[in-house]
Amino acid sequence: MPDPATEVEAAGLQAWETREGSAPASIVACPNGPLLVRGDFEIVTPDGVPVPRDRETVALCRCGGSAIKPYCDGTHKLMKFDTTRRRPVPEPARRAAEEAAG
Ligand code: FES
Repeated sequence: MPDPATEVEAAGLQAWETREGSAPASIVACPNGPLLVRGDFEIVTPDGVPVPRDRETVALCRCGGSAIKPYCDGTHKLMKFDTTRRRPVPEPARRAAEEAAG
């Protein structure tokens, strides 16, 4: 299984820094891969419990396949996750969006 740190490096970013000297948060959406979040931020569960991290830059799964959510474990490559494909919007959601737009 690919190492997420390797993917961060492949994306051209400085990989897995420590929290010391952190900067404001920024997010980079990797094509067909995770969201790379770096800087000063906190990840919490829906119950508000902080998710431990010890790196300044983390890769967050957006394919849904990671076994170590919220972090990316490289499964998106096995799934051939494709961020260019658009899924059809379910009818109830489409209708609600149209009603909200007026
Ligand atoms: S984005 Fe990498 S495992 Fe989901």
